[in-house]
Amino acid sequence: MDRTDHTHITHITDSTLSTQPQTILVTGGAGFIGSWLVRGLLETLPDSRVINLDALTYAGNRANLADVEQNPDLMEAGRYRFVHGDICDPALVDALMAEATMVVNVAAESHVDRSITGPMAFTRTNVLGTHVLLESARCHGITRFLQVSTDEVYGSLALGEDTQFDETSALAPNSPYSATKAAGDMLCRSYFETFGLPVLVTRCGNNYGPYQFPEKLIPFFILRATNNEPLPVYGDGLNIRDWIHVKDHVSGLIAVLLQGTPGQVYNIGANNQQSNMVVTLSILKALGKPDDLIEYVTDRPGHDRRYALDTQKIRHQLGWSHAIEFETGLCETIAWYQKHTAWLEGLKHRPEQHAATTGAGWLSDSMALTATAD
Ligand SMILES: NC(=O)c1ccc[n+]([C@@H]2O[C@H](COP(=O)([O-])OP(=O)(O)OC[C@H]3O[C@@H](n4cnc5c(N)ncnc54)[C@H](O)[C@@H]3O)[C@@H](O)[C@H]2O)c1
Repeated sequence: MDRTDHTHITHITDSTLSTQPQTILVTGGAGFIGSWLVRGLLETLPDSRVINLDALTYAGNRANLADVEQNPDLMEAGRYRFVHGDICDPALVDALMAEATMVVNVAAESHVDRSITGPMAFTRTNVLGTHVLLESARCHGITRFLQVSTDEVYGSLALGEDTQFDETSALAPNSPYSATKAAGDMLCRSYFETFGLPVLVTRCGNNYGPYQFPEKLIPFFILRATNNEPLPVYGDGLNIRDWIHVKDHVSGLIAVLLQGTPGQVYNIGANNQQSNMVVTLSILKALGKPDDLIEYVTDRPGHDRRYALDTQKIRHQLGWSHAIEFETGLCETIAWYQKHTAWLEGLKHRPEQHAATTGAGWLSDSMALTATAD
């Protein structure tokens, strides 16, 4: 793993919380965003310990944190520990919560297409799992509980308008995924209002960057285009997403964790709205591949048309800003996926991968070809 892969996470350290030793329970830390968060916390809070609780579903992968697990300084100092387990397991959660001072709940079922073919797993982890964590947190005097949520809870905006979602926008989720995330957000709100648990919620747009499981649009299309395979685009391809590099999301999460006001919601975004078609054409251009690899496929049911986030609150109140522009981040991401073939090969040989049924079409030519930005 080259060092340059892990730079640029903005360090925000001007909080009293950051100067006290913390034990942070991160759930879902073996996933895409969670693995970057674990790395970011260990870098930003040098006196902290991180416990990573992850069930290692198809999306969880310990190789995402190989650099941490192979870092003798971190491991010998006891600053990082992996626990294989489920956030729906109250006894395990209680045992870990007893050690923790802060919690960041990143664990989730995260892929909209899977929530259409198998929604109950989403209710289990995204609602019940969140509730188990909240209930345990309130019994253990947790000082900060950060719930990592999504802009998808706000629903869809019309194309051609200049509207954005801010933190006061009504929740109107349209997929089982976003509905279960909204339910988790509401449980968090209730634990702040009813029990005074210091809960914070963040809502972010579409992430991209290294270590993203290649069922999501950007890595999926990078891999298919590299292999000269068709890129299946839903509907007319004009659906708009608000893209942010995962390292910028993580710097926003750490800012909210350390400086945010309990009970508040913070949108995190890079003010970067792009249609799926523009993103697809950018990938093809960067790889020197022809546009006729694009193949239009039947649209997803309930497909949100446009997301756009107003991020003034986190920028003005916490002084956070994104650092990575989309063109640069996308080129670096493409280069990363082309270079890290061993990581990709490793995904094919993980036992849990064989249980995956949809969305990872690049793993098997015979699988249904769909691709989505979220
Ligand atoms: N990816 C995005 O673009 C995006 C954007 C905004 C918000 N989010 C939110 O960020 C979070 C992480 O997203 P991601 O893309 O990194 O997801 P991911 O699918 O890559 O990772 C999810 C992780 O959670 C773990 N997990 C799943 N169920 C679990 C359970 N019951 N117990 C313990 N661990 C479990 C998985 O093993 C995996 O490691 C999610 O809550 C998602 O809603 C994601």
